[in-house]
Amino acid sequence: MNYLEAYRESLESPETFWGRAANDISWDRKWDQVLDASNLPFVQWFKGGMLNTCYNAVDRHVEEGRGDQIAVIYDSPVTETIEKISYNALLERVSKVAGMLSALGVGKGDTVLIYMPMIPEALVSMLACARLGAIHSVVFGGFAPRELAVRIDDARPKVIMSASCGIEVKRIIPYKPLLDEAIEISTHKPDKTVIYQREMIKADLSGDRDLDWMELETSAASTGCVPVAATDPLYILYTSGTTGKPKGVVRDNGGHAVALRWSMKHIYNIGPGDVYWAASDVGWVVGHSYIVYAPLFTGATTILYEGKPVGTPDPGAFWRVISEHKVKALFTAPTAIRAIKREDPNGVFLKKYDLANFETLFLAGERTDPDTYYWATDLLQRPVIDHWWQTETAWAICGNFRGLEFFDIKAGSATMPMPGYNLKILDASDGKELGPNENGVICVKLPLPPANLPTLWNDDKRFVESYMAPFPGYYLTGDGGYVDEDGYVFVMGRIDDVINVAGHRLSTGGMEEVLAKHPAVAECAVVGAYDNLKGQVPLGFVVLKAGVSQDRDEIIKELVQMVRTDIGAVASFKKAVIVDRLPKTRSGKVLRGTMRKIADGEEFSVPSTIDDPAVLKEIGVALKTIGYAVE
Ligand code: COA
Ligand code: AMP
Repeated sequence: MNYLEAYRESLESPETFWGRAANDISWDRKWDQVLDASNLPFVQWFKGGMLNTCYNAVDRHVEEGRGDQIAVIYDSPVTETIEKISYNALLERVSKVAGMLSALGVGKGDTVLIYMPMIPEALVSMLACARLGAIHSVVFGGFAPRELAVRIDDARPKVIMSASCGIEVKRIIPYKPLLDEAIEISTHKPDKTVIYQREMIKADLSGDRDLDWMELETSAASTGCVPVAATDPLYILYTSGTTGKPKGVVRDNGGHAVALRWSMKHIYNIGPGDVYWAASDVGWVVGHSYIVYAPLFTGATTILYEGKPVGTPDPGAFWRVISEHKVKALFTAPTAIRAIKREDPNGVFLKKYDLANFETLFLAGERTDPDTYYWATDLLQRPVIDHWWQTETAWAICGNFRGLEFFDIKAGSATMPMPGYNLKILDASDGKELGPNENGVICVKLPLPPANLPTLWNDDKRFVESYMAPFPGYYLTGDGGYVDEDGYVFVMGRIDDVINVAGHRLSTGGMEEVLAKHPAVAECAVVGAYDNLKGQVPLGFVVLKAGVSQDRDEIIKELVQMVRTDIGAVASFKKAVIVDRLPKTRSGKVLRGTMRKIADGEEFSVPSTIDDPAVLKEIGVALKTIGYAVE
């Protein structure tokens, strides 16, 4: 089957296309209906089917004779550890950790929050939840206690699983105090917190609800897989929306397993026994889908890397891992490639390693800019594939195919829509479908394919309002772009107040809520300004209250610290400027898009709705004092 045949069939007869793909998954009970789209925008995939996600990721490979094969390679330059875990060993640990959770009262439908660094226990805890039919919610380690508390209150976990610390290059970050603070702030309190003690720091476990992970795991009884409905939730993953309140994206079990398994074969060309590496973090969707679930569904070997592209110890780190573990495909963010390029522009470090097994570099998280694309392609002499996706979708919306049909690459394009995604470019003002090369809002005609979010956690209303109501009959991706005359999709950036900082999705609205709490601040705005390493970084604009006499540099320092404390270091909020007023429309809407263009030194047209055009000049002058607005 070529791409066009697959794409057509997936849209004209989704039942045939996905029903066939579902044969690669092991079911406890076959589905009654592949697709139930009778209640749009709500969709149910594989209705009536029963399966267990952990069984498909672990047990089945042992039963099929691959028990001795390596399932996970934990490569941690920050602790100088390399540990190889076979499918047999993984099964043993996951069964025991599931037993440990079960003994704590966790069962089907309960929620468990996981706040972990990149260690095998992170992956084991996710699989253990799946084994019990419990719903995990992993929170990225770089988020501060307040962000963690918001997620605790929304997911209402029975148990929280964490570790004594994370390691950021050489900095040890104790997690337990952060967790304690989060639980202190949150209204919901978990029954128990289970802490994995790492060697470099031992957490204080004297609190009423604190338990030592290894003590419990050692004495736990192994537990088997609990079959769940295909439509039952597997996990909740919070992602940034346009306000400070994150969206709890829900993932089902059945559609997720089917689509991810399909994607491994057809997009990444990975089969059983291949070594695959997603250099991300389990706290992000890339980590959920491509560090944990998809490679394990496939019976491949996945790499769990606790390190950075540079500094652990040098810009050859990625090439060392690829060479040492015979990696066939690497998936990372363009920012990681830019970080390597900055420190090793001529690829001197690459020359030290044999990359014979390496076939493809996949990039996502932000658009791969043509400069990064050409640099990586010249250096690696292999295809560099940009593919576009979101937390909401769990797998690519657009991309190229190493296992179906490979298209010539156009720099700056995410190539073709994936099967199942009926992609349309709509006019933002009237929702009319646009033609080739016309810029608009990228939408997907319903129904969404398997693995896409069925709803938001406990919030059908927000699900409909955020994604489905703006253009009835379509899912609004939140990204803008165009399709060229050959059908190539160009994703040019968010059309809302979400920004991507070093491949991390953040809400400018959330940062504004933090800045607004400062006693000297009358109003504020945050935009995503261009950054040649991280793609974008947040830039704050602050108007002070009348009569404030506090030193201005001091105010900015406090604002930077507040964002770090409330959201986390990962926000990378380091720059803000004090201005007399913000540019607004006559109806009072802040013109963030125009401010961003001024900051980036881009050409801009003065919006016809602006209240007072003179303010734009003032903004430009203020920005020049901190090194922005350079034409
Ligand atoms: N726990 C605690 N703190 C964390 C953290 C974690 N898990 N992850 C990041 N941070 C901290 C960093 O230490 C840094 O702190 P600092 O301000 O004190 O220096 C801050 O958050 C910002 O982190 P980051 O944006 O990652 O910047 P960096 O300078 O440390 O590294 C890159 C830059 C490009 C090397 C790095 O961002 C990277 O490897 N990016 C790849 C991103 C990726 O894989 N994204 C997933 C989507 S595919
Ligand atoms: P996240 O939900 O964290 O995966 O972030 C999703 C957002 O990242 C998308 O809505 C896009 O704005 C951006 N993004 C991810 N991959 C790409 C890509 N290949 N090209 C352009 N934007 C991307």
